[in-house]
Amino acid sequence: MTTVRQILNEKGHDVWSIHPDNSVFEAIKELAGKNVGALAVVEDDKLVGMFTERDYTRNVFLEGKSSPKTSVREVMKTHIVCARPEQTVEECMAVITEKRVRHLPVLDEQKLVGIVSIGDMVKNIIADQKFTIEQLEHYIRD
Ligand SMILES: NC(=O)c1ccc[n+]([C@@H]2O[C@H](COP(=O)([O-])OP(=O)(O)OC[C@H]3O[C@@H](n4cnc5c(N)ncnc54)[C@H](O)[C@@H]3O)[C@@H](O)[C@H]2O)c1
Repeated sequence: MTTVRQILNEKGHDVWSIHPDNSVFEAIKELAGKNVGALAVVEDDKLVGMFTERDYTRNVFLEGKSSPKTSVREVMKTHIVCARPEQTVEECMAVITEKRVRHLPVLDEQKLVGIVSIGDMVKNIIADQKFTIEQLEHYIRD
């Protein structure tokens, strides 16, 4: 079973992040620039929240707030659902489905070592299933 550690080794350990005192406007610019749907919110080297496109649409746009005048701290999620490097893709999918989140920051003994997303999980599951189908096709043919 593939682990989060293996996924990160393949896709990289980069974490795009933002400070909670930055504005929502700056956060959205960062989301667009990095072409991702979520940012880790980091203060004094500690993960203090997550800011996602969903937080913007629900907590800023729909509330009629101004993105240059609203700070990330005001609208970020502080109840953070995390993964550990030794967890499997299946465990992460269960957490993503149950908690209804799309991104899991990965903590190794409190240290932020990466982020995995629902897309990473789905990509891995599809690759695994493709491999199994190919093996079965070989088995039937040979
Ligand atoms: N082909 C691929 O390798 C691949 C991998 C993941 C997602 N996708 C596709 O991209 C689309 C959106 O994907 P999504 O909903 O999973 O989320 P997303 O667009 O936020 O994530 C895209 C990629 O960026 C990474 N990422 C996201 N936020 C990050 C951050 N703050 N720091 C570092 N890395 C970060 C994710 O782990 C993922 O690999 C989907 O259509 C999905 O199928 C493709």
